Amino acid sequence: MLSLAILTASFLALAGAGASPASLPVVAKRQGADALSTFVAQEQAISVKGVLANIGGQNSSLVPGAHPGAVVASPSTVNPNYFYTWTRDSALTYTMLIDELLFGDVSLRKTIEDYTTAQAILQTVTNPSGSLWPAGDGLGEPKFYTNLTRYDGTWGRPQRDGPALRAIAFMTLAPALFNLNETAAYMQFYWPLVLNDLRYVGQYWNQSGYDLWEEVHGSSFFTIANQHKALVQGALLAQKLNTTCKPCAQAPQLLCFLQSNFWNSSGGYLTANINSNQVTRSGINADPILASISVFDANASCNAGDFQPCNSKVLATHKVFVDSFRNLYPINKNATAPNAVLVGRYPEDTYYNGNPWPLCTFAAAEVLYDAVHQINQTGTLTIDKTSLAFFQDLSPNITVGNYTGATMTGILKNMTTYADGFISAVQPHLPSNGSISEQFNATTGESLSASKLTWSFASFVTMARRRAGEYPISWGAWHPLANTKMTAGQCKASSYNSTGSYTPVVADGAPNITKICSSEVIFSCNASTEFGQNVFLLGNVTKLGGQLNNTDKIILPLNTGNITSDNPQWYVDIWLAAGQTVGYQYVLQNGSDWVFERGPVRTVKVPACGSGKLVRTSDSFRFPSS
Ligand SMILES: *[C@@H]1O[C@H](CO)[C@@H](O)[C@H](O)[C@H]1NC(C)=O
Ligand SMILES: *[C@@H]1O[C@H](CO)[C@@H](O)[C@H](O)[C@H]1NC(C)=O
Ligand SMILES: *[C@@H]1O[C@H](CO)[C@@H](O)[C@H](O)[C@H]1NC(C)=O
Ligand SMILES: *[C@@H]1O[C@H](CO)[C@@H](O)[C@H](O)[C@H]1NC(C)=O
Ligand SMILES: *[C@@H]1O[C@H](CO)[C@@H](O)[C@H](O)[C@H]1NC(C)=O
Ligand SMILES: *[C@@H]1O[C@H](CO)[C@@H](O)[C@H](O)[C@H]1NC(C)=O
Ligand SMILES: *[C@@H]1O[C@H](CO)[C@@H](O)[C@H](O)[C@H]1NC(C)=O
Ligand SMILES: *[C@@H]1O[C@H](CO)[C@@H](O)[C@H](O)[C@H]1NC(C)=O
Ligand SMILES: *[C@@H]1O[C@H](CO)[C@@H](O)[C@H](O)[C@H]1NC(C)=O
Ligand SMILES: *[C@@H]1O[C@H](CO)[C@@H](O)[C@H](O)[C@H]1NC(C)=O
Ligand SMILES: *[C@@H]1O[C@H](CO)[C@@H](O)[C@H](O)[C@H]1NC(C)=O
Ligand SMILES: *[C@@H]1O[C@H](CO)[C@@H](O)[C@H](O)[C@H]1NC(C)=O
Repeated sequence: MLSLAILTASFLALAGAGASPASLPVVAKRQGADALSTFVAQEQAISVKGVLANIGGQNSSLVPGAHPGAVVASPSTVNPNYFYTWTRDSALTYTMLIDELLFGDVSLRKTIEDYTTAQAILQTVTNPSGSLWPAGDGLGEPKFYTNLTRYDGTWGRPQRDGPALRAIAFMTLAPALFNLNETAAYMQFYWPLVLNDLRYVGQYWNQSGYDLWEEVHGSSFFTIANQHKALVQGALLAQKLNTTCKPCAQAPQLLCFLQSNFWNSSGGYLTANINSNQVTRSGINADPILASISVFDANASCNAGDFQPCNSKVLATHKVFVDSFRNLYPINKNATAPNAVLVGRYPEDTYYNGNPWPLCTFAAAEVLYDAVHQINQTGTLTIDKTSLAFFQDLSPNITVGNYTGATMTGILKNMTTYADGFISAVQPHLPSNGSISEQFNATTGESLSASKLTWSFASFVTMARRRAGEYPISWGAWHPLANTKMTAGQCKASSYNSTGSYTPVVADGAPNITKICSSEVIFSCNASTEFGQNVFLLGNVTKLGGQLNNTDKIILPLNTGNITSDNPQWYVDIWLAAGQTVGYQYVLQNGSDWVFERGPVRTVKVPACGSGKLVRTSDSFRFPSS
C-alpha cells in the first residue's frame, strides 16, 4: 500500500530543508556542563532508543511479532505480561516522537507513518467495547494484542482518554505538514483519523469509564482534561483546514465540568476521580499532574483553562501529592521539603505493594520546569492563598503577593533546583545501562515490575526537553476557544451524537469494513449495590462476551451515570447486529467474586435493520436469596 508515499516525500523535503526549519521553535536554554545535565543528556538518548526498540517495524529483537507502528508497553511477557499495545501509552509515546521530529529528527518519519497505518487499522477492529460502525463505541477499547487484534480478557473498559490522546498525537503533526505546504495531504491522511476520535470524545465525554491506571470507574481529571484539549485543538485545526468539527463545540462543557467538580477545597488539591467506585481513596494522585503536562502550552497564562502547570491549583496539588510519599516509602527517609523524593501513582496504591514510579517522578519535575517557564514569561509571580504552601517550601518567609525582579528570579531558581531534585532522586537507582522499569522497590530502590517500560522512557524524554527549555508548538490553550467559561449552574450533561458518521480511513490502510446493519439496545438494570461492587452484562453475542454462565467471558461493565439515591439504575447503551435474539444475564462483581443473578437467561430482540427503533430493557437484578 503506497497510500502514505506522499508523506514520505514530504518528510524527505523536510530533511532537505535542514534539520530544523526556521519556523519550528528550537530553544536551548540550559546546556550546563554540570553532572546532572550530563546524565540527563545521556539518559535522554538512551530513552529515545529504548522507546524505538519497543515499537514494531524497527527490526527490534525485543518485540517480535509486533505490527509496524504498534507500541509494546514493555517487552515483559511474565510477571507482569505487558506485551500488548495500549491506545493511551502509544499516543503519549508518539506525541513525544512527533515532537522529536519537529525538533529536527527527521529519521522518525517512517515510524510515524507506521503508527498512522496501525491506528487506522485499530480504529476499525471490533472489540469488547464495541465497534467503529455505527456508534464509534469500539474506539474506547484500551488495549489490543500487538498484532492489532482484539483482546477479549476481562479488563477495565472502556477508557475514554485513548481517542483524545491519539487525536492530539496526530494534531501535533499538523504544523510539520503545514510548513511544507502539504495541507491537502494532512486533510487526506490525518484529519479523517482525528475526526473519528473527536467524534468519539464529543459523543461520550460525559459517560464514565476507567481511569489511566485502569482501576477506577468514574470520571477522571486526566481523561476530561485531555478530551478538552483535543476538542479545542480540533476546532482550531478545523479552521485552518477550512472545515468544521461539530463535536468540538462540546469543549466549553468539558471545561465547565473540570472547573466545577475536581477541586477538593478542604484538602487543597485536584482530585483524580469523581463519581467513582473508589470512595475510600483520598483522590491524591499523579493523574492531575500528568494531565497538566499533557495540556501544557508554553504560550499560555497561568489561568488558561485553569490547569496549566503554573496554575495555583496545580502547584498546590503538586505539594500535597509529593508530600503524601515522603513518609510512605522507606527509601525517601522522611525527607522534608524542599528536598525532592521518589513519588508513585497515589498513596493508597497496592500494586506490587505500592512503590515509586519513575514516570510519575519525572512528571513531578516536568510540571515544575513548565511552570517556571510560564511564570518567567509573564514577568510576575503571583502567590495566592492556594499556592502559598507550595511556595513556602521554596521560600520560607514568602507571603501572598505579586513578585517581580530578584525575588521572583530567586524563587524560580529554587523551583528549578527542586525540579532537578526529582531527577537526582531517580538517578542512583537506574542500572548502568540506563534501562527504566515501571517501578522502584519502595525499600531498596531496585527496579521492579515491567522492565524497559516504554512510557517510562517517553516520560524521561519530554522531561529532559522541558528542562532544556525546549517546548512543543503551542496548541492554543491561550485561545478564547479554550477558555469559554460557564458558571457551575450552566454545566450540562451534553453530547454530540456522531452515530452513523464514523468512517474507516481507507487512505491510510484501514480495511473498508462492512457496515453491518446494527440497531441500538439500552440494557438497563436496577441493582442496589454496595460501594466497590459493580454490575456486568454477559450475553451470547461477541460484544457481550459471547458465552453465558462463564466468568472468563465477562467483559462488559454497566455504567453508573444514571444512578440516583432512589433509583439504582445501571445501564449500557450498545449497538448489536439487527434482527437477532440475544440471551443475556447480569453478574455482580463483589471484590474478586462474580455473583450471577438467579433465574432463567433473559432475552431481547434487537430491532430489525433500518427500523430506526431502539429497545430499552427494564430489568431488576435478581439477587440470589441468602
Ligand atoms: C495475535 O496475537 C495473539 C496473541 O499472541 C494470538 O493469540 C493471535 O492468534 C494472533 N492473531 C493473528 C491473526 O495473528
Ligand atoms: C510554501 O509556500 C510558500 C508560499 O507560496 C512559499 O513561500 C514556501 O517556500 C513554501 N514552502 C515549502 C517548504 O515549499
Ligand atoms: C482556506 O480558505 C482561505 C480563504 O478562502 C484560503 O486563503 C486558504 O488557502 C484556505 N486554506 C486551505 C487549507 O484550504
Ligand atoms: C518516618 O516516618 C514514619 C511515620 O511517618 C515513622 O514510622 C518512621 O520511623 C520514620 N522513619 C525515619 C527513618 O525517621
Ligand atoms: C522490596 O525489597 C524488599 C527488601 O529486599 C523485599 O522484602 C520486598 O519484597 C520487595 N518488594 C517487592 C514488591 O518486591
Ligand atoms: C527568564 O526569562 C529571561 C528573559 O527572557 C531569560 O533570560 C531567562 O533565562 C529566563 N529564566 C528562566 C528560569 O527561564
Ligand atoms: C532559596 O532557597 C534558599 C535555601 O536553599 C534560601 O536561602 C533562599 O532564601 C531562597 N530564595 C528565596 C528567594 O526565597
Ligand atoms: C525568615 O524569617 C526569619 C524570622 O524573621 C529569619 O530569621 C529568617 O532569616 C528568614 N528566612 C529567610 C529565608 O529569609
Ligand atoms: C496580583 O496581581 C493581580 C493581577 O494584577 C491582582 O489581581 C492581585 O490583586 C494582585 N495580588 C496582590 C496580593 O497584590
Ligand atoms: C443518534 O443518532 C442515531 C443515528 O441518527 C440514532 O439512531 C440514535 O437514536 C441517536 N441517539 C441518540 C441518543 O440520540
Ligand atoms: C467502502 O465500501 C463501500 C461499500 O462497498 C463503498 O461504497 C465505498 O466506496 C468504499 N470506500 C472506499 C474508500 O473504498
Ligand atoms: C442466544 O440465546 C438466545 C436465548 O437463549 C437464543 O435465542 C439465541 O439463538 C442465542 N444466540 C446464539 C448466537 O447462540
